[in-house]
Amino acid sequence: MPSAIVLHQAGPAENLKFEPVAVRAPLPGEIRLRHTAVGVNFHDVYVRSGLYKTLALPGIPGIEGVGVVTELGNEVEHLNVGDRVAYIHVGYGAYSEERTLPAEAAIRLSAGIDDHIIAATLLKGLTAQVLVHEVYAVKPGDWVLVHAAAGGVGSLLCQWASHLGAHVIGTVGSLHKVELAQRYGCNHVIQYRQEDFVARVKDITNGEGVQVAYDAVGKDTFFGSLACLAPCGHLANYGQASGPVPPFEVSALFAKSNSLSRPSVFQHLKKVEKRQAAAAALFEALNDHVLQPGHIATFGLANAAQAHHEMESRSRQGSVILTI
Ligand SMILES: NC(=O)c1ccc[n+]([C@@H]2O[C@H](COP(=O)([O-])OP(=O)(O)OC[C@H]3O[C@@H](n4cnc5c(N)ncnc54)[C@H](OP(=O)(O)O)[C@@H]3O)[C@@H](O)[C@H]2O)c1
Repeated sequence: MPSAIVLHQAGPAENLKFEPVAVRAPLPGEIRLRHTAVGVNFHDVYVRSGLYKTLALPGIPGIEGVGVVTELGNEVEHLNVGDRVAYIHVGYGAYSEERTLPAEAAIRLSAGIDDHIIAATLLKGLTAQVLVHEVYAVKPGDWVLVHAAAGGVGSLLCQWASHLGAHVIGTVGSLHKVELAQRYGCNHVIQYRQEDFVARVKDITNGEGVQVAYDAVGKDTFFGSLACLAPCGHLANYGQASGPVPPFEVSALFAKSNSLSRPSVFQHLKKVEKRQAAAAALFEALNDHVLQPGHIATFGLANAAQAHHEMESRSRQGSVILTI
């Protein structure tokens, strides 16, 4: 019987238990998949800790993976047994050796990019792509603020915004990440645990502020990010690594005519064709070295608890994956 990481009760990382699980045969429109690698995301930390109550317990966490198709349900025509595929899927279940999956979630992979790199970059890279193209379309010459610039999404976001011709200001939580953030395309790096990042952004932009702030740190940075915006600037609050943002007065946006979004990559890429096209563009950017995956911390599936400790450790840079 295959094994998986099962969460019986929300709480500390040690609640992630490696145990045998039954995997049913695929229903019509589904495939069965044997994973080779699974991406670990901050979303998984929110689910495990109980901040998000979106996984029915007991349940198998995880929202992206890479693997090989081992069985086809009826009515699946675009895939074959043996195909190498990757997916993002908000229906959970990725922390597993084997699983069933809606076939429409599967993105067929061609040779070229290693499974570990795909697991480290698929969800994070698609998120970065949606943020720079759709949530706010970054233009040459824009000032762009990216928090946690040496993290999984942050490092890809900085590279993409820089590639599009923006001036990128990154924030990082510790000194050893400064050079990394510069390597990821940041023109200016602020150590936001020690420096007043609002004052530094004002200084760097000659008082103008930024056209867009990408903030997934949440509680600790949200109001500072708003203060960093230029007139008509946009704040994309796409996560909450430090905790949820408290309620605030919408009229606070009026003085500078600012706008705010709380985007989800799953909503932006809900349509199959759009998701497939976005993945193709991401793989092209990786192949062309427009994006570098950065450091990948690798753990065996059974050690998911350790992987979560690594996710929550602020000394970490880059991405975390589980291998099978
Ligand atoms: N909306 C969406 O569709 C979407 C999709 C994917 C990811 N996200 C969000 O994007 C963010 C990044 O995700 P990721 O998986 O790539 O994680 P990550 O950036 O690799 O890790 C989170 C980073 O947040 C910073 N941070 C600030 N305060 C923190 C705190 N109190 N505890 C822990 N970390 C803190 C840390 O960097 P420093 O120490 O350098 O500050 C840490 O490395 C998350 O908030 C996630 O929810 C959103």
